[in-house]
Amino acid sequence: MLLRIASAQLSSDYYATTCPRALSVVRSAVLNAVVKEHRMGASLLHILAIAARDSVLSFGGPSWTVQLGRRDSTTASLSDANTELPSPSLDLKDLISSFSTKGFSEKELVALSGSHTMGQARCQMFRNRIYNETNINSEFATFLKSNCTQSSGTDDNLSPLDITSPVFFDNAYFKNLVDGKGLLHSDQQLLSGGSTDSLVTTYSTSSGTFYADFANAMVKMGNLSPLTGTSGQIRTNCRKTN
Ligand code: HEM
Repeated sequence: MLLRIASAQLSSDYYATTCPRALSVVRSAVLNAVVKEHRMGASLLHILAIAARDSVLSFGGPSWTVQLGRRDSTTASLSDANTELPSPSLDLKDLISSFSTKGFSEKELVALSGSHTMGQARCQMFRNRIYNETNINSEFATFLKSNCTQSSGTDDNLSPLDITSPVFFDNAYFKNLVDGKGLLHSDQQLLSGGSTDSLVTTYSTSSGTFYADFANAMVKMGNLSPLTGTSGQIRTNCRKTN
C-alpha cells in the first residue's frame, strides 16, 4: 500500500532501484544527440523532456533537480496545442494573463521566456515584426529580411531566437531585448515600456539571477499536473501512443 502511494508521486530518485542506470543512459543519449545536432538541446528544452539533472549543462547555464516518474499521455490534441500555447503575436498584457491562467507570475513569464536563448523560429513567426514593427533594431531587421522575404516561399526559413549566441544557454536573450533585437513580437513585448521592463534589465546584467529564477520556474512548470502512478502510459515509441 505504502509502495503504491509512493510510486504515484514524482521524486528525484524514482528509478534508483528499478532502473539505477536510467540517468546515465539518458545523459549519454542526450549528449550524443546534442553533439550531432546542436538544435536538439533547444528541442529538448522545448518539450520539457529533460529527464536527467544537469543534462543541459553541456551548454553551461542553470541546473535543477528534475522530478522523475512522470508518464506519457494517451492522447494528443493539435487544437489544444494551438489554444493552450501562447501565440508569438500576443501583447504583454495577454502574455501575462496567459501565464497567470497557469499560475505563473510576471517574473516567471520573463524568466521562462529566457529559454529563447537557444533554438530557432520560422520566418512566418517573425515576418510581421521585421517588416512592420518600429521597436526593432534596424540593422537586425535588415539582416533578417535577406532570409525571410515577404513571399510565403520563405515561411519555413529559420533564424536563431538569440542572434548573438544561438547555441549557448546564457543571458544574451535579455541583452538582445535591450538592443531591440528580440526576434518574436512576444519577446520584445517583455521590454516595451511595461511592467516587465525592470525584470528584463535585471536579467540582462545578472546571469546568476536569471539562472536561479529560471531553474525555479522550470521546476514549477514541470509540476503542472504530471501523469503519475497508473495514469497515462509508458510509450514504447515516444512519438505516438501505444
Ligand atoms: C512567452 C510565451 C512564449 C511564446 C509566445 C513562444 C513562442 C515561440 C515560437 C513562435 C517559437 C518558434 C517556433 C517555430 O517557429 O516553429 C518558439 C521556439 C522555442 N521556444 Fe518558445 N514561446 C514562449 C515561451 C517559451 C517557454 C516558456 C519555453 C521553455 C521554457 C520556450 C522554449 C522555446 C524553445 C527552446 C524554442 C526553440 C525550438 C527549436 O529550436 O526547435 N518558449 N517559441
